Amino acid sequence: MRRMLVVDDDAGMRAALEARFARRGWQVDVAVNGAEALAKFRPGLHTLVITDVRMPGRDGFELMREVQTSSSGTAVILLTAYACVPDAVRAMRNGACDYLVKPVSFETLETTVEQVLRGAQLRKKEEHRERDALIGHSPAWQKALGSARQAASSDADVLIEAESGTGKELVARLMHRLSARNAGPFVAVNCAAFPDTLLESELFGHARGAFTGAIGAREGKFEAASGGTLLLDEVGEMPLALQPKLLRVLQEREVERLGSNQTVRVDIRVIATTNRPLGAAIAEGRFRADLYYRLNVIPIGLPPLRERAGDIRELARYFAGIYSGSGAVAQLSEALVARLEDEPWPGNVRELGNFVRRAVALSAGGEIGVEAFEHGRSSPVAAARQSEWKAGLSLDEMERQLFSMTLDATHGNRARAAELLGVSLRTVRNKVREFGLPAHSEYGRDYAHE
Ligand SMILES: Nc1ncnc2c1ncn2[C@@H]1O[C@H](COP(=O)(O)OP(=O)(O)OP(=O)(O)O)[C@@H](O)[C@H]1O
Ligand SMILES: [Mg+2]
Repeated sequence: MRRMLVVDDDAGMRAALEARFARRGWQVDVAVNGAEALAKFRPGLHTLVITDVRMPGRDGFELMREVQTSSSGTAVILLTAYACVPDAVRAMRNGACDYLVKPVSFETLETTVEQVLRGAQLRKKEEHRERDALIGHSPAWQKALGSARQAASSDADVLIEAESGTGKELVARLMHRLSARNAGPFVAVNCAAFPDTLLESELFGHARGAFTGAIGAREGKFEAASGGTLLLDEVGEMPLALQPKLLRVLQEREVERLGSNQTVRVDIRVIATTNRPLGAAIAEGRFRADLYYRLNVIPIGLPPLRERAGDIRELARYFAGIYSGSGAVAQLSEALVARLEDEPWPGNVRELGNFVRRAVALSAGGEIGVEAFEHGRSSPVAAARQSEWKAGLSLDEMERQLFSMTLDATHGNRARAAELLGVSLRTVRNKVREFGLPAHSEYGRDYAHE
């Protein structure tokens, strides 16, 4: 169901909007002022916010700015009682927000809603904005975001050094969005995902017939990102032989496709990321120091989740909101949240998100209690930390335990297990057979014959 948040200090206005939009199939939440609105706002869930401008405390403009920073795919409509609209509002007016001068007819409002939603939809598609909500108010996270925002406005290359799952890609997308290049493309290449020779042609492209199999000419990612931002993920994994070539592109801002001697100018900003500090790779001779200094014009660090445990509550609630789908938002018990806050989370925000996803999927409705903690730990990383999990297990044994634990948690429901593990139902069936998992399970249900 489409969900909106209506913010107005006038009770009559709130009731009128709630009734009209509810009739149009919207789920409508209401708030009486900006502070309450921010508390109720769920990035990723609310597709629209309709807000009064003049309100005690935080006004409509501030609310709009905060909403669009934490969830840029959300559309915002400002209702103002004053015909003279400041230039600031006109300037801010873009596809995903608009303003109307009161009194407004419901018909006009409805047309505007359709328009801004279409605008927000387009922007969302362009940049995967559904993944762009930035949650967290801890000083460590806010400080990191502050440096990212500041760096976004310059055109210098950036190196983000941070642990896995801390939000490097999220922050890279934010920087692109806030930069002068935001109308251009955002292109991501994972340097660890390609064998050496393929990475080179992925980045540089190739001329027709440059090598066996190069049937047509192909544009590389440097060219594809021109006018925008190129994210070089896991740059520390880039083969040593390719590193001088990257350095040259960063200095000259031009590339030659493989097998061609024609030079193409590229107008790119590079954001590189690494999970492991590059210092060690340099010491081991796996990464060139000159490339490091060239990339590291602006260094950005993101704190691991254990250093911003104050954000865990907010993040967990946010994920519960997202993973509850269109139904009522799953509630996490106080005991569970407290337990989550105590965890070290080596996989950081990604691991926490996965945990909440599983807990919500497995919950039978009602508040999710602390017992979800044991069920939810079916990821190999988490499982490996359980005491009965002995070190030195073979991959096979680990897999067997993983499938067995997951089926345990789903009470033998294979479709559910497949969903949780992110594999096909067929894979689950095969693994049950391969590992000889009990056909007549102790859950009192025969899951071998589904
Ligand atoms: N502050 C945050 N608010 C909301 N979601 C977040 C936040 N930080 C991270 N996430 C989510 O956690 C997941 C991991 O984030 P992201 O992919 O940006 O991490 P990463 O540092 O690039 O990880 P990796 O090193 O594994 O590539 C994503 O689903 C992302 O949306
Ligand atoms: Mg990443």
